[in-house]
Amino acid sequence: MYRRLKKMSTIFFLFLILYFPTFLWAGNGDYAEKIITSQCKGCHRFEGKPKSKFELKAPDLMWGGMKYKRTWLIRRLLGKEENLYPKGYRWDKLRLSLKHMILTKEEAKVVADYMETKLIDSRIKKSLVDLSTLTEMEVKFGGKIFREYSCLSCHQIKDKDGKLIGGPISVTLFDAGNRYTLNWLSRFAENPQDFTPHSGEYIADISARKARQLIGYLMTLGVQKFKFYEPWKSKEFKNADIKRGVKVYKEYCMQCHGKNGEGDGPGANGLDPKPAINSKLSLSDYPDDYFYNILYYGGKSFGKSNMPDWGMTLSKQSLADVIIYLRSDFNRE
Ligand code: HEC
Ligand code: HEC
Ligand code: HEC
Repeated sequence: MYRRLKKMSTIFFLFLILYFPTFLWAGNGDYAEKIITSQCKGCHRFEGKPKSKFELKAPDLMWGGMKYKRTWLIRRLLGKEENLYPKGYRWDKLRLSLKHMILTKEEAKVVADYMETKLIDSRIKKSLVDLSTLTEMEVKFGGKIFREYSCLSCHQIKDKDGKLIGGPISVTLFDAGNRYTLNWLSRFAENPQDFTPHSGEYIADISARKARQLIGYLMTLGVQKFKFYEPWKSKEFKNADIKRGVKVYKEYCMQCHGKNGEGDGPGANGLDPKPAINSKLSLSDYPDDYFYNILYYGGKSFGKSNMPDWGMTLSKQSLADVIIYLRSDFNRE
């Protein structure tokens, strides 16, 4: 009898160990749901189809588990982040209250856990943008695109001195890199109407390459010491080969620049100034990033006319090869 009891209690004990974490989690899940139902649902929606902001009191949170970086979300719920909408969520209405509700540390954690497990949106996939290969130049172009495509008229960012600039229609984006996940931002950018229909945002006519630059730019905003990729430090540059570079030069460059880079190729007939690449400075004195960027993005990106951009035509290896050929001053010394 005693032995059987002991055995039973072992089984019961095991049962408890096995199931305890689930009990605990279910408890937290219920707790989170309680907080959300009693404190958040008066303003935010957590399920249903996206609606125009003009029918809402606060941003939709159906995809909230995939939109925000966790550290930002928790800070936001603790009241440690500035308001996102400079004129209130509804710019068309008088703002009644500036303050968002604040949760305790424990509540914020439980709500963030809940959002991350329950507020999932299957439309959001892994982004095609790879931030580990993002260059500083791409981010510079992204910043230009941000202005050229009027983003600044509706979204505020900070200028060099930290002053807010731009229009107050929608969210501020000066801290976008700390707030959004890359996957959500990329999917949103594909078609904003899928998330905020009839709300005033538009679908920009933009190439995949420009979209990458713009998304890359947003993902660096507010991020201290973002680590940029430097292609000229890659293995292709370590393995660069002059002989291969001679071939690339003949196929793609000689037509304008001429055999020795004097700017006397037949393609230069109509060009003024003549595109001499070795006239003033010894080519070995130019920094690698200059060569890489002018070749990859073309002359117009640097205020030099008519030099085509080769980034979509030549592989990184071919760029590295032709650069080392130029660097050797056309192999003449
Ligand atoms: C009285 C209405 C109200 C209540 C209640 C409320 N919120 Fe909000 N919430 C807002 C408004 C308005 C904004 C946008 C304001 C801003 O940041 O400028 C917002 C923004 C947010 C954001 C950022 C959303 C985004 O994408 O811009 C999150 C996350 C959020 N709330 C979570 C919560 C949670 C969780 C609760 C409940 C614990 C809650 N809110 C309760 C009105 C409310
Ligand atoms: C005419 C005004 C307008 C312009 C121009 C505009 N946006 Fe928006 N943007 C909006 C509105 C409206 C929303 C929906 C969110 C809201 O305000 O309710 C939005 C939403 C966003 C969001 C998601 C915000 C969030 O947290 O849910 C991002 C990111 C964004 N825009 C980036 C851009 C970029 C990049 C550009 C330039 C290509 C741009 N926007 C141009 C009005 C604009
Ligand atoms: C269609 C004609 C054309 C072709 C083809 C061309 N370039 Fe150029 N390139 C130019 C022009 C025009 C300039 C700018 C000259 C100026 O404004 O000073 C230039 C400038 C340059 C510069 C900058 C020189 C400096 O002094 O700063 C480099 C380097 C260069 N090209 C390398 C190349 C390479 C390598 C190729 C082949 C992959 C190539 N170019 C193909 C027309 C061309």
